[in-house]
Amino acid sequence: MRAVIVDRYGPPDVARVVEVPRPSPRKGEVLVRVVAAAVTSGDARIRGARFPPGFGLPARLAFGLRRPRRPILGWVFSGVVEDVGPGVADVAPGHAVCGMTGLSMGAHAEYVRVAAGRVAAVPSGVSHSDAAGLLFGGSTALYFLRDKASVRPGTRVLVNGASGAVGSNAVQLARHFGATVTGVTSARNAEFVRGLGAGRVIDYAIDDITNAPERFDVVFDAVGNLSMASGRRLLRDGGVLVLAVASLWDTLRARRGVVTGSGPERAADFAWLLQRVASNELTVVVDRTFPLDHIGDAYRLVDSGRKRGNVIVRP
Ligand SMILES: NC(=O)c1ccc[n+]([C@@H]2O[C@H](COP(=O)([O-])OP(=O)(O)OC[C@H]3O[C@@H](n4cnc5c(N)ncnc54)[C@H](OP(=O)(O)O)[C@@H]3O)[C@@H](O)[C@H]2O)c1
Repeated sequence: MRAVIVDRYGPPDVARVVEVPRPSPRKGEVLVRVVAAAVTSGDARIRGARFPPGFGLPARLAFGLRRPRRPILGWVFSGVVEDVGPGVADVAPGHAVCGMTGLSMGAHAEYVRVAAGRVAAVPSGVSHSDAAGLLFGGSTALYFLRDKASVRPGTRVLVNGASGAVGSNAVQLARHFGATVTGVTSARNAEFVRGLGAGRVIDYAIDDITNAPERFDVVFDAVGNLSMASGRRLLRDGGVLVLAVASLWDTLRARRGVVTGSGPERAADFAWLLQRVASNELTVVVDRTFPLDHIGDAYRLVDSGRKRGNVIVRP
């Protein structure tokens, strides 16, 4: 099968398409023919070995000290089940499924092997592109807003980085839970972020949010330019600061009212999000779609830090 190999850390050009053996599903696993896969900021971090301050060594220990331990990256996919391993009962060949791979990755390829418990059915009416574009930002925003910040009607939420994969979901989900939302983005994305549900938009090129006079119940940083100290200054008493991108130092010091770390990859959350898309309550934002052979261009767009929502590759 064709797959994107990243066998050394570096710029987008290190990613190249090669022929590799097709994996076989083992016990409890499914083999999925990938129709669409996301090229996420997470993939780009690993490919470029660019991790938040302090995480350089721990991340290299996890992903590979000198080069990626698993050279086929790609965490998020949507496609059709090709084959199942022993012990898989509720997923069968021909089913449309999507999911996240966890640390095993491998979705930037024609086929990906993944534990059956990590996939969710793609509802009819939801495209593979939308399913692949949904899960990375959607599951992250859902976890932090619903499970950690308990957003409910009337909650005042600030989303920093409102036009990215995480931010575009955070704005919509905060609105879905009844919050009023202020989004931080650049001028070119202001109308777009309003369209996602933000009642107010702050242009970061004009206003430095760390000096904003307002206070919020939840501050959700999906950029990484707020620290624990600067983020907390934007909170009302009892508010919650979500640092989706945090330094090791802030991660170690995070206490009550400050949430860091990684969101879990739960099939039940995927199913909940997919139903919201199927019922048009949630829109998946896909900036551009590339053929797998153009993986370098896909990575260049992700590396720009200016993508709108998601970037998709199709094998
Ligand atoms: N903790 C977790 O579990 C978790 C999970 C997923 C992702 N993450 C992290 O979350 C971060 C966001 O991921 P993502 O995929 O959503 O990123 P992304 O899609 O690459 O974000 C791009 C967006 O960020 C906006 N942006 C750039 N600079 C900005 C600034 N100074 N202020 C406000 N917006 C700005 C851009 O808008 P303009 O073009 O308008 O500037 C662009 O639309 C990444 O660092 C990622 O590693 C963490």
